[in-house]
Amino acid sequence: MPVFEMSDADAAGRIGELAVPRADATVETPALLPVINPHLRTIQPAEMAEMGAQILITNSYIFYGSDEYREAALEKGLHEVLDFPGPIMTDSGSFQLAEYGEIDVDTPEILRFQREIGSDIATPVDIPTEPEVARERAEAERDTTQDRLETAAAFDAGEMLVTAPVQGSTYPDLRERAGREARETGLDVFPIGAVVPLLNDYRYADVVDAVVGAKRGLGPAAPVHLFGAGHPMTFALAAAMGCDLFDSAAYALYARDGRYLTVRGTDHLEDLAYFPCSCPVCTEYAPSDLRNADDERTERLLAEHNLHVSFAEIRRIRQAIRAGNLLELVEARARGHPDLLDGYRALLDHADWLGTHDPVRKGTFFYLSAESARRPEVRRHHDRLDRLDPPDELLLAPRDADVGDAGASHDAVWTLAPAFGPVPPELARSSPLTAETPARLDAAARKAAISGVAKLVEAHPDTAVSVHPGDWPTSAFAALPPAVDVLDGDDR
Ligand code: GUN
Ligand code: ZN
Repeated sequence: MPVFEMSDADAAGRIGELAVPRADATVETPALLPVINPHLRTIQPAEMAEMGAQILITNSYIFYGSDEYREAALEKGLHEVLDFPGPIMTDSGSFQLAEYGEIDVDTPEILRFQREIGSDIATPVDIPTEPEVARERAEAERDTTQDRLETAAAFDAGEMLVTAPVQGSTYPDLRERAGREARETGLDVFPIGAVVPLLNDYRYADVVDAVVGAKRGLGPAAPVHLFGAGHPMTFALAAAMGCDLFDSAAYALYARDGRYLTVRGTDHLEDLAYFPCSCPVCTEYAPSDLRNADDERTERLLAEHNLHVSFAEIRRIRQAIRAGNLLELVEARARGHPDLLDGYRALLDHADWLGTHDPVRKGTFFYLSAESARRPEVRRHHDRLDRLDPPDELLLAPRDADVGDAGASHDAVWTLAPAFGPVPPELARSSPLTAETPARLDAAARKAAISGVAKLVEAHPDTAVSVHPGDWPTSAFAALPPAVDVLDGDDR
């Protein structure tokens, strides 16, 4: 039975089902795994389930090293100790390795421990290589991680799934190789590691390059976890790259600091006069109520809100994938913070890769910003212009232009559509060419359209192409190939 099956897709994102045989369960993805630290249970796992958690993640190394929890976990199992019936994924201690430099356990030992405490998805001891280390070091640590993945693949895990973390620091080609070799181990779930320092510094463009690198190597069929991505403002962008699982310690860590998460960023409880949210916490309380509560209660209520807002964003992303408007959601989120906009722009820089995933049938394309002109749908249309069959004399005109007699003196009139460029009548009613665009177009929409015209001309040198400018400014046509005739007043 395949571990991961996909149903819907949009951009490189997808709705999938991850089968977790040891828990006799399937998890719908994209999914958020709240992080449980057994020592600090701000919200109990059983309550998490009520709030929408299908699956949790905890750190097996904490159990391994804990006088309080080690024996209990070995005797009763993780599910009983945490009181959570659904699947539980475990990390290995690599996080401690990154934080403190050393841990006293190796991959076979911690995998055995994870199996013995009843983990459903276990993790070997990968090395989370920091950003910007020297390439030699990133390579050497990636090689060590790969050795451990191979050890993990040989481990007798029974029904337990085992992850294959993908490292490679900030070297996209190393990430790609790491992804490819991780996939070749035949392990089950593929976390992309060591992005936490990038996420903490809002380096979303670098996150995108690392993730897309890894995804290029992993291919589309692998279920992908983005290790440590817990801020809901990042989920849509990550989902659009094909990340299926996220884990959130952020809901609790931020709550401890009095921080209130939203899909647009982070607010401080101190600064809020109103709660812009309709979760149970925010409908029952005002910010002043939380400020006046005792610290423990404030933290608990903030954590609850933080989780609610995170699960809501996951549902919104699933719905956007269903409806085919995930990139519109990413675009909206990108407006929440300039660094996130940079991340979205970095994703569009990978349009070649994105275009290989983006499904053809979609919801209505909304042109919302200059970035929209770089979406994969536009690129795909440009790429197929060579397969169209234009007549000898073709007139292109913006949709609302009155072409008058010029229409009759050409063999056909095609629409000059914002961003897409030449659109023959037979395609005009099919998605994405039914795109909604603002009446007050930006230059990027016209520029992309003109580059489409150039592609058409190049692919069909025997066609004489004229353009009726409609209400487009003259400057829009400056980049047209010289062979294209722009009709002036006398011709119309
Ligand atoms: N948690 C956050 N980042 C990482 C990582 O790179 N590896 C592991 N195992 N856990 C993580
Ligand atoms: Zn709320």
